[in-house]
Amino acid sequence: MKKILVTGGAGFLGSHLTEKLLKENNEVLVVDNFFTGSKKNLEHLLTSPNLEVMRHDITFPLYIETNQIFNFACPASPVHYQYDPVQTTKTCVQGAINMLGLAKRTKSPILQASTSEVYGDPEVHPQPEGYWGKVNPIGIRSCYDEAKRCAETLFFDYNRQHNLHIKVVRIFNTYGPRMDPNDGRVVSNFIVQALQGNDITIYGDGQQTRSFCYVDDLIDVIVRMMNSEEGFTGPVNIGNPAEFTMLQLAETILRLTGSKSKIIYQSLPSDDPKQRQPNIDLAKAKLGWNPKVNLEDGLKETIAYFKRIVA
Ligand SMILES: NC(=O)c1ccc[n+]([C@@H]2O[C@H](COP(=O)([O-])OP(=O)(O)OC[C@H]3O[C@@H](n4cnc5c(N)ncnc54)[C@H](O)[C@@H]3O)[C@@H](O)[C@H]2O)c1
Repeated sequence: MKKILVTGGAGFLGSHLTEKLLKENNEVLVVDNFFTGSKKNLEHLLTSPNLEVMRHDITFPLYIETNQIFNFACPASPVHYQYDPVQTTKTCVQGAINMLGLAKRTKSPILQASTSEVYGDPEVHPQPEGYWGKVNPIGIRSCYDEAKRCAETLFFDYNRQHNLHIKVVRIFNTYGPRMDPNDGRVVSNFIVQALQGNDITIYGDGQQTRSFCYVDDLIDVIVRMMNSEEGFTGPVNIGNPAEFTMLQLAETILRLTGSKSKIIYQSLPSDDPKQRQPNIDLAKAKLGWNPKVNLEDGLKETIAYFKRIVA
């Protein structure tokens, strides 16, 4: 039985990952400061004798024993990461230093949840891992984008300098049950607005695109990545390349919920990328992975979840 640390394990992705690791018969220690995560996300797992949950902020050192580390702690939505931008940078940078130090001491492989935001507002489309990005270093999104870039730098320096067994995944937009209904991410926003009969707010003209990956597909490839051959560090893009405009997404959600909500348009927030689509050739070749869940099926599961919690 492996002892696995999941930082940010009470969040959206971390709780799904914890669930999968427990199913695969591992011992899991979740470390979370509950800034955006919630014990509710883990409620159904708490009876497991193999789960331990610890309140801790990863900007402070952590002394535990572990065999594998998944570093997921970090608020992921703009409303949350912009709420206290200095803390966001500290979580990404100081948090990475602390977790890398722990990995070094315990000789554990460590996987970093990086992000498509490292590409900024990309000039290359779709984005391959070799593209270095176009990122504003001083804007309101920089506390997240630049701090995640710095975390990647730290991972690769620990690998070169200390021979650490690292894995870096660049996660593209992911959705599914246990997303926070109030975090302003587009899928949860549209679904909650549709279910409550409120106007659906599209920022800009609705022609900007995103690619959405269902959470089960994403967790599958994250575990594959951790268990891949030692020399394969990534960074590797993970996401679903199927691309949709925000208008198409809104119309699909209106149809699936049967809502009578109206679509309204508001101005685009600054530095909002106009398009985002992963090139996943590397994940396909190295990890034998291809996302399976199409947008409609994933949205049906997500809508069913939001119906329960919004009601
Ligand atoms: N969801 C996505 O589409 C997406 C896309 C790209 C990258 N990611 C990355 O995946 C990870 C998880 O994202 P998510 O969508 O589950 O977000 P989330 O906000 O639901 O989860 C983040 C978790 O980290 C915890 N946390 C935040 N700061 C912490 C700190 N200093 N110490 C300990 N815990 C802390 C939060 O309480 C929360 O439980 C993040 O690192 C994020 O950057 C997510």
